[in-house]
Amino acid sequence: KMNAYVKGLMSKMTLDEKIGQLNLVTIGAATTGSVVNKGVEENIKNGSIGGVFGVWGTTQTRQIQDIAVKNSRLHIPLIFGLDVIHGHRTIFPIPLGMSATWDMGLIKQSAQIAAKEATGEGLNWVFSPMVDIARDPRWGRISEGSGEDPWYGSQVAKAMVQGYQGTNMKDADAVMACVKHFALYGGAEAGREYNTVDMSRIKMYQDYLPPYKAAVDAGAGSFMSSFNTVDGVPATVNQWLLTDLLRKQWGFKGFVVSDYTAVNEVTDHGLGDLQTVSALALKAGLDMDMVGEGFLKTLKNSLTQKKITQQEIDLACRRVLEAKYKLGLFDNPYKSMDAGKEAKEELSTANRAAAREITKHSFVLLKNDNQTLPLKKGGSIALVGPLADNHRDMLGTWVIAGEWQKSVSVMEGIKNVVGNNVAINYAKGANITEDSLFIKRLNFGPGMVSLDAKPADELLKEAVDAAKKSDVIVAVVGESQSMSGESSSRSDIDIPESQKNMLKELSKLGKPMVIVLFNGRPLTLTWEDKHANAILDVWAPGTEAGNAIADVLFGDYNPAGKLTATFPRSVGQIPIYYNHKNTGRPYKGGPSKFRSNYLDISNDPLYPFGYGLSYTTFNYSAVSVSKTKLKGNETLKATVTVTNTGKYAGEEVVQLYISDPVASISRSVKELKGYQKISLQPGASKQVSFTITPEQLKFYNTQLKYDWEAGEFVVEIGTNSADTHNASVWWAK
Ligand code: IFM
Repeated sequence: KMNAYVKGLMSKMTLDEKIGQLNLVTIGAATTGSVVNKGVEENIKNGSIGGVFGVWGTTQTRQIQDIAVKNSRLHIPLIFGLDVIHGHRTIFPIPLGMSATWDMGLIKQSAQIAAKEATGEGLNWVFSPMVDIARDPRWGRISEGSGEDPWYGSQVAKAMVQGYQGTNMKDADAVMACVKHFALYGGAEAGREYNTVDMSRIKMYQDYLPPYKAAVDAGAGSFMSSFNTVDGVPATVNQWLLTDLLRKQWGFKGFVVSDYTAVNEVTDHGLGDLQTVSALALKAGLDMDMVGEGFLKTLKNSLTQKKITQQEIDLACRRVLEAKYKLGLFDNPYKSMDAGKEAKEELSTANRAAAREITKHSFVLLKNDNQTLPLKKGGSIALVGPLADNHRDMLGTWVIAGEWQKSVSVMEGIKNVVGNNVAINYAKGANITEDSLFIKRLNFGPGMVSLDAKPADELLKEAVDAAKKSDVIVAVVGESQSMSGESSSRSDIDIPESQKNMLKELSKLGKPMVIVLFNGRPLTLTWEDKHANAILDVWAPGTEAGNAIADVLFGDYNPAGKLTATFPRSVGQIPIYYNHKNTGRPYKGGPSKFRSNYLDISNDPLYPFGYGLSYTTFNYSAVSVSKTKLKGNETLKATVTVTNTGKYAGEEVVQLYISDPVASISRSVKELKGYQKISLQPGASKQVSFTITPEQLKFYNTQLKYDWEAGEFVVEIGTNSADTHNASVWWAK
C-alpha cells in the first residue's frame, strides 16, 4: 500500500519538488551552528522544504503545516523534528545518567513519556537516541550516550527506539527515532569535538558499531550521519557507511539525514565545493540535507551535468515520503497538533512523578565511608556549593523545550522531603568557575555562567561559617549545564578549581562531608575520593532533580546505579575502558619497567565500569557452572548466590562478563554479556543464573566474520567489571 501511494505521489512531482523533500530547515529556535534558514514560508509554498525542526507547540506547528498542506501544489505534509534527547518538557537525567539505571524498562518509559509530550506539541520526529560509544570523557558529548560498552549500549539503543516508536509509528503517541551519529562520532581523537576518527575495522565492528546495528534491528525509522570521517571519508558522503554497511549489510529501510550543515562542511574536510560534496552525499546514500541547502541549490545542476542520476534523487525522495507515510502524515498531517493533548501532557503530575522515580535510579553512590549516607532526618546540614540552590543547571545538556525554571533545586527538594526537621545552613560557597576564558566559552550555549557579585573569599567564608554551625556538610558541586554536551570538550576534567578550593577548606573542619556531584562526564576525583566521606553522583538529573536527590540523601530510596563509563584517576590515562586488550606485556598491578604501565600512576581507574555502591552490602558466592566441558550449540548455566549482608533493602545489578583467553586475534580482557537487576531485603539471598550460548562467545575475526572459536572461556560474575568471581569452561565446536 505504501509503495503504491508513494509511487503515485512521485509520479506527479516535478524534479524541484522531489529535491525539495530532501531539504530540512530550521526556523531558528534551536540552532547549533551559525546558519539559520531564510525564506522558509516561500520555500514551503514552492514545495522546496521536506521538513522543519526547532519549532514546537501546536499553534506554531499547525501554522507551518497549514502552509505546506494548503498552499503548496501537492499538499505534501512536512515532518517536524526536534532534539528531544532526554525528555521533551519533563526532563529526565542526561542519557549517561539514564544508562546508569541498568533498567531498560525505565529507559523505555522515559522515551515513551518524551514521545507523548512531543506528540502533544506537533512533533513527529526526534533526533535521538544518540548511541555513540565513547571512551574518552574529555569529549563533552559522552553525556549524551550510554557509555563505553557496545553490548550494553545496544540494549539501551533498542529500548529507546522501542520507547519512541512504539509498535506502530502511526499511533498518536509515537514519534520516529533518529539514531545518531552514524558513525563512530564518539571516537574523536583527543576527545576534541568534531575531530578526526580513525580506527581499525575490527574495532569498529566489535566495539563501536553494535549499538547502531541494534537500533536498525529494533526498527529505527531514520539515522543521522556524523560530522567525522570514517576511514578518511566524511560520514556524510561515505558510501561504504551509508549504503554498503547500513543498508546492504544491515538491511536498514529508513532514511538518513545529515547533521547540521554537515554536507557543506565536507568542503572543509577537503572534498570539493558545495556542488561536488552535495552530489557525493546523495550518491553515498544521504537522503536529507539539514540546514545547509546544498541539495536544494546544486542537485539540479548536478543532474543536468550527469554527476548524479534521476534514480538517485528518486530514491532519496521516496525514502523521505515513506517516512511520512509510516508516521501517518498523509492520513492526518495534523496528527500531533492537538491542543487538548498538549495541555494535558506537558509536565503533567504523572510525568513528573515518573521522572522523580526514574531519576533516583540513575544516581551512583561512588563512596560512602562509615555509612555517612543516608543522612538522618534531623539535626543540621550545611548545604553549600554553586549547584545547591540552583535551577538553571538541573536539566543538563540538550533540553530544547525543557524549562529550567520549572525544575526542583536541591534546596527545594530537601525541604520537600524533610520539612522543618532538618536545619539548613545554606551558602553558595564558590562560583562554578572563576576562569574568565572558560566562562566566556560556556556562555556561548544556553546555560549561562556568571561570577557572583560577592568576591570569592567572601563566598568561601560563608560556606565555612555555615559548615561550622552544622552537623554535616552537603556540598553540591561539579559541572554546570553547559560544561558538557556538544562542543564542550575539556582537557582538564577535575571539578573546577573554585569549587575544589571550597571543598578543601571545608574538609579542614573535620566534619562529615558529602559531595553531591553534578557531571556530564566521568571526572577525575582522586582528591575528592580521598577527602570526602561520601560521594553521590547525580549527573544532570532533570526536572525532578532536587526531589530525587533528597529521596536518596535521606534514605527514602537506596541508590543502585552503576557506572557505564570508567572514571579515570587522571586525564593521562584516557582513553580508559574496562574491555581493553591484554597487550604482550600486561600490567601486573603495579609499576614495573618494560611493562604496559605508567611510571607515575596505576593503570587502574578510580571507579571501574559497572561500579556503584549501595547503602547496604552484597556478598557474592563462587560461580557454579552447569558443566565445564561443552560442545557446539549446548547452553551453559552459570549461577551465583547474592546475599544482602547489610541493614537496608536494596537493589543490585549482577553483571556477567566473559573472557576468551586464547583466540585467533587478541581479544579484550573481558566483555559484558548480561546483567540482572535484583532486589533483596536485609539478610535475604537470591540465586542468579545466566544462560550462556555460543552466540555470546562470538567476535569479529580478521576476515570480519562474526563467529566463535573453540577453547577456554572464563565466565565472570560480579558487582562491577573489576570485582568478579570466575569459573572456566571448555567449549568445543
Ligand atoms: O541533532 C543535533 C545533533 O546531535 C548535533 N548537531 C545539530 C543536530 C540538530 O540540532
